[in-house]
This record gives sequence, structure tokens and C-alpha cells, in this order.
Amino acid sequence: GLKKKEVNVLCLGLDNSGKTTIINQLKPSNQSLFGPLSDDWKHVSQVKTQTQDIVPTIGFNIEKFKSSSLSFTVFDMSGQCRYRNLWEHYYKESEAIIFVIDSGDTLRMVVAKEELDTLLNHQDIRNRKIPVLFFANKSDLSESLSSVKVSQLLCLENIKDKPWHICSSDAVKGDGLQEGIDWLQGTVL
Ligand code: GTP
Ligand code: MG
Repeated sequence: GLKKKEVNVLCLGLDNSGKTTIINQLKPSNQSLFGPLSDDWKHVSQVKTQTQDIVPTIGFNIEKFKSSSLSFTVFDMSGQCRYRNLWEHYYKESEAIIFVIDSGDTLRMVVAKEELDTLLNHQDIRNRKIPVLFFANKSDLSESLSSVKVSQLLCLENIKDKPWHICSSDAVKGDGLQEGIDWLQGTVL
């Protein structure tokens, strides 16, 4: 069949925001409702499927998932302080960014904003129309802020040179993820 267009995606955000959980949900499941791995994946050697145990990422992991028309290669970066200096090495190659925020982590919203601002002002990102998809994740927590509130606290309306979109998500259940990926697919195309 037709080969899907390949897109490099960088997944960023503070530690514990849910990046790996989100990417894991997007990967093909071993025993999905649709039976064993679909034909779509047969040509890929060593397909990594969903896992049950997600641990804090060390450095980064490379993962793959597909949407209806695109084949994504994701650099799932660690959000821990000591690894955040790795992020910038992958800016040049990236064609889209997924930025994950823990909507329940109100105390560190300012830290998330600092990291976002540093990203957006970086020389390898600044002048590019690279799409940025935000997940206001952990929407299931009682203390979590709405995506509108998160968007205000991060001053997303100031991003004028890039297409961006924010979705609220519950990565454990998988809610909201498809909406985000649909947007990304439509924007990258
Ligand atoms: P680092 O790899 O350290 O940067 O963290 P990460 O952003 O990859 O976070 P990870 O996916 O490891 O998730 C951290 C914790 O949050 C795990 O215990 C997840 O189960 C939990 N988690 C992720 N998404 C959600 C969510 O939407 N709701 C709730 N309640 N918990 C979540
Ligand atoms: Mg992780």
C-alpha cells in the first residue's frame, strides 16, 4: 500500500506530566479490540507495543505510532531537571512538538511556563512554523485546571508564529488524545 509520510515529533514537558503515558497509549496495543497487530504494522521489525509499567524516563526513548495518514517517530524526553538540557539537541530534526502539562500541578505551572518560553525562544525553534500540540493532562484529578486556564497561565495566545492547539487529556484512560493527534495530523499535512 501507500507508505505513510514520516514525521519526527519531540515530546516535552516537566517530569511526571504524563508524556510517556500519552505516547504509550498511542502505540499499537498487543491485544487491542481489533485483534493482533494490524497489517499496517507487519512491515515494521521489532514493533514496540503498549506496556503496563511506565517508569520515569531516563534520558529519552524513541517510540513509533501511526495515525490514519502519518507515521510518527517520537523522541519521548525525560522531563527531569538534570535531563532537560538534552531537549535542545533534537529541536532541529523535529517537525512537530507535543508539550505536556500536568493540569493538577498548579505549583509548577510557572516552571512549565519557563521551560516552554525557553523552548520557543531557542534559535532552532524561534523562526519556524513548527506545530505545537499541548496536552493539559491529568484532567481527571479533582484539583486540575481547565485547558483554558492552563492556556492562560502559559500565555499561549502570545504564540503567533506557529500553529498550536491545546487539548485536555486523561492519558490513563486515553481521553482527549485522539483529538490532539487529529489536529497534529491535519496541521503537519
Ligand atoms: P518523565 O519521564 O519523568 O519526564 O515523566 P513523564 O512525563 O513521562 O510522566 P509519566 O508518563 O511517567 O507519568 C507520571 C505519572 O503520572 C504516572 O504515575 C502516570 O500513571 C501518571 N499519569 C499520567 N497521565 C495521567 C493522567 O491523565 N491522570 C492521572 N491521574 N495520572 C496520570
Ligand atoms: Mg517519561
